[in-house]
Amino acid sequence: MQMGGGSRETWGSKVGFILAAAGSAIGLGNIWRFPYVLGESGGFAFLMIYIACVILIGMPIMGAEMVIGRGSGRNPVGAFRVLLPGSPWWLAGAIGVITGVLILAYYTVVAGWTLAYLYESITGLVNTFNTPEAAQHAFDDFVVNSGKVVFFHFLFALLCILVVSQGVKGGIERWSKVLMPTLFLLLLLLIGRSLTLPGAGEGMKFLFEPDFSKISGEVVLVAMGQAFYSLSLGMGVMITYGSYLDKKSDLFGSTATVATLDMSIAILAGIAIFPAVFAMGLEPASGAGLTYVALPLVFSKLPFGAVLSSIFFLLLTIAALTSAISLLEVMVSFATDELKWVRSRATIIMAALAFLLGVPVALSFGVWSDVKVFGLNFFDLYDYLTANILLPLGGILIALFAGWAWRKGVKEEMLQGTKMGRLYGVWIWAIRIFAPLAVGIILVTNLIG
Ligand code: TRP
Repeated sequence: MQMGGGSRETWGSKVGFILAAAGSAIGLGNIWRFPYVLGESGGFAFLMIYIACVILIGMPIMGAEMVIGRGSGRNPVGAFRVLLPGSPWWLAGAIGVITGVLILAYYTVVAGWTLAYLYESITGLVNTFNTPEAAQHAFDDFVVNSGKVVFFHFLFALLCILVVSQGVKGGIERWSKVLMPTLFLLLLLLIGRSLTLPGAGEGMKFLFEPDFSKISGEVVLVAMGQAFYSLSLGMGVMITYGSYLDKKSDLFGSTATVATLDMSIAILAGIAIFPAVFAMGLEPASGAGLTYVALPLVFSKLPFGAVLSSIFFLLLTIAALTSAISLLEVMVSFATDELKWVRSRATIIMAALAFLLGVPVALSFGVWSDVKVFGLNFFDLYDYLTANILLPLGGILIALFAGWAWRKGVKEEMLQGTKMGRLYGVWIWAIRIFAPLAVGIILVTNLIG
């Protein structure tokens, strides 16, 4: 079997890869999920545990994914097969692909909310709230409107097809290079506005004032899940993106850059949102609607609010798009490598699958809000199952594979193209012992306890 897959596409440039990988990592996870889970988990303590998880667990595992991807030149299922033929390790990749379908399914729903809010911002509707209750009602009324939610969910799935069907270099890379810098500028603009609101200081305190009384086993699990989710780890995105890398690129350097960018954007999003939450007298623990309630309320009170609001939801749509396409690309690379489908067919079928699986999620705030599995509605079920269980589990398997199972070649592959080879000794023990043990303990204590 030929390593690297012969005619496989590669990234056009180093920056292109970094922006695509950062584009995957930076998404709704940073701007929508991070603030609301942080708000529910008490602020500062969560932030500290999250940062520790990113550095100690997330970065080593991201390196492991990239090295598996580049070493094999394959999708997550094929990667394990190429590196260790005849072993059952490909199942780890298969779990990853399935996890990806589930994440994409509910991700496109929330991205659909974003598109809907973008539309309503442009038409001026989001910009008319006088009270926190009005903004909350608007969100509550919107998510129960199943027809509308499904329509925008569908529209977003179409956008993903549009990008991914254009391929790696001409689609994913080209779009990421434009979209990511735009996003960063828009976020800075928002922070400037949010920090100058009267009462903004309370929000900064919530984020940055030391308070360790809120730490619990559950907070640690949720912070770790958020780290996996935000870094796009544990299901093979970085394996897939790594498989399009050439041997000259630096895996240590890329990991450090992508993880640092991702963490910075999450913290910046917190700085944009919490001052606004407190300035407007909202409840930080109000759940999945936080971003969609807090910011429109701020915009309503500002000159040019409709413009700012449109900018913000455009930003969020962009962030969601560069992440969703990475999830879709995992499934598409699986279908083109393993099932030998052509790209366009793979893209349409896989996106359709995710769209259909997302419909119950889209309905779970409306007509199906009473349908519960394990006491959770479909939205919470998909989210909890993927972020807090399947991604950490995938992370353990990936770390153990790179650390123990794939004996020959991992060191050589990891050192190719890097000037930071001295880090190898730290990295290999992080993925052999520390990361699997830490993730395992956090998972087991929470699932049993
Ligand atoms: N990281 C993205 C975000 O923060 C979401 C995402 C994209 C993702 N690909 C993933 C999450 C793979 C987990 C696994 O929004």
